[in-house]
Amino acid sequence: MEVIIKQDAEAASLLGAKLVASVIRKNPSSVLGLATGSTPLKLYKNLIEFHKKEGLDFSSCTTFNLDEYVGLSPDHPSSYHYFMNENLFRHINVPQKQVHIPDGQTQDVPLHCLEYETKMRQAGGVDLQILGIGTDGHIGFNEPSSSLSSRTRIKTLTEKTLTDNASFFKSGETMPHHVLTMGIGTIMEAKSCLLLAFGEKKADIVAQMVEGPITSMVPASALQWHRSATVIVDEAASTKLKRLEYYRWVYQSKPEWQRFE
Ligand code: F6R
Repeated sequence: MEVIIKQDAEAASLLGAKLVASVIRKNPSSVLGLATGSTPLKLYKNLIEFHKKEGLDFSSCTTFNLDEYVGLSPDHPSSYHYFMNENLFRHINVPQKQVHIPDGQTQDVPLHCLEYETKMRQAGGVDLQILGIGTDGHIGFNEPSSSLSSRTRIKTLTEKTLTDNASFFKSGETMPHHVLTMGIGTIMEAKSCLLLAFGEKKADIVAQMVEGPITSMVPASALQWHRSATVIVDEAASTKLKRLEYYRWVYQSKPEWQRFE
């Protein structure tokens, strides 16, 4: 696992966006795994800017989102369909037919999840999976105790996640307790993973993910087992890492050919 520490969320998101752009430039038909939440917002803003100013071309890309709330229609302002349209898709040139997000209103959850996995496989698998991390260690919505080999399925959110994500819903609005999410096993099949984490409130869980034991109680710790996982954090999220200076040194010593800045 490569850990990169940047001064703030702006610099970390810019670096993350450069990594995504380098993957797309190398392979214009890249399959991207996408996340929602507050974490990737700045990264998406950078990608939109690269598209508008530098012509970064998404026309041959295919995308698969990690998750969606059960019961929310695509036009619900708190749905992840809505989030993705507002924050990325309507600003870039990825064709709608190449965009995939789990359907929170499906009438047949197991079949829909199976078909989602099949579509990912038929697209050739995810080349780069973008991830955030929940304060309880979830990636996608794989909450603590999720099987490390889980596939796309329905999950029940923890109290912690419901509280953390309440700000994405109008006050008084009932928040779905269930989600459809790619599994840890699904995420682990991506050819590479890019996880971003910002702010003091992520510092503990980042340290557990990177330096703690691999355990289903911290689902993101499964990434220690991934062959190509990059974690970009800001200073605030890095403070609990024991080997912080080593990670900085590794990044400074990175050979030129490995850099994407
Ligand atoms: C979102 C997702 C979640 C978030 C996580 C962090 O698609 O899969 O794992 O990445 O809940 O959320 P934020 O970024 O809002 O702190």
